[in-house]
Amino acid sequence: MAGQLRLDKYLADMGIGTRSEIKEWIRKGRVKVNNEIINKPEQKVTTDKDKISFDDAEVGYVEYQYIMLNKPTGVVSATNDNVSNTVLDLIADKKCKDLFPVGRLDKDTEGLLLITNDGELAHQLLSPKKHVDKVYFARVRGIVTEEDRESFLLGVDINDEKLTLPAKLKILHSDEISEIELTLHEGRFHQVKRMFEAIGKEVIYLKRLSMGNLQLDESLAPGEYRELTDQELASLNR
Ligand code: URA
Repeated sequence: MAGQLRLDKYLADMGIGTRSEIKEWIRKGRVKVNNEIINKPEQKVTTDKDKISFDDAEVGYVEYQYIMLNKPTGVVSATNDNVSNTVLDLIADKKCKDLFPVGRLDKDTEGLLLITNDGELAHQLLSPKKHVDKVYFARVRGIVTEEDRESFLLGVDINDEKLTLPAKLKILHSDEISEIELTLHEGRFHQVKRMFEAIGKEVIYLKRLSMGNLQLDESLAPGEYRELTDQELASLNR
C-alpha cells in the first residue's frame, strides 16, 4: 500500500540500517529526496511518488518480499539462533526488514520454504483451520507397504491428543530403502518422521516439494532462492 511516512522510517523499512544510524546519515547529507539533500529524518515522503536515494543509489520502497528458498540441511528455520546458521542468513539481498520463514522445516530437512514479511499470507498458509496441503518426498528405511498407505489414510497415533488427519501416501519405490511422497493437510511438529516412526520405519531423507499451490522450483539447488513470480503469488493468495 502506498502511503506517507517519515524518511528515516522509509529507509529503516528497506533494511538500510538501524533507525539511529539512518538519522545520523540523513543529518550528514547522505540521503536525497527527489535529488535534493534532505537533513531532516522526520521529513514525510510518499512511497510511490518520491524518489529516495542513499549515497546516490536509489532505494525503491518494497512493502512485501516473497522468497522461495530451497532450504539446505544444516540451517534452522528461524530468524536468529545462537548456535546454527538460519535460513535468513542465506538471503543476501533482503529488501525488507522483518523477513521470517513461513513455518518450520527441521534442520535436516530440505526443500520448499517461503520467506516473507507478509504476516497475513503466513497466517493463511499456517492456520490449522485452512488445511493447506504440504507434499513431502522422503526416503525411508524399510519396505513401505500398501498397509502403510491405508494406515496413513485412516490416521495414525503419533502420541498427540488426536490421530493424524488422513494423509495420502504415494509409494514411488518399495525396498530396504523406500521412496515415497506424502501429502499432509496439517503441520504438526516432526510430523512426517513421527508418522513413519508410528509404523516402525525411519525417515532418512526428507524434502518438502510444495505448500498449497506453491511448488519448489527444482532448478534451485539446496541453498539457492529466488523471488516468487507474480503468478505464484497470485496462486497462493487464492
Ligand atoms: N515433518 C518432519 O518430520 N519434519 C519436517 O521438517 C517437516 C515435516
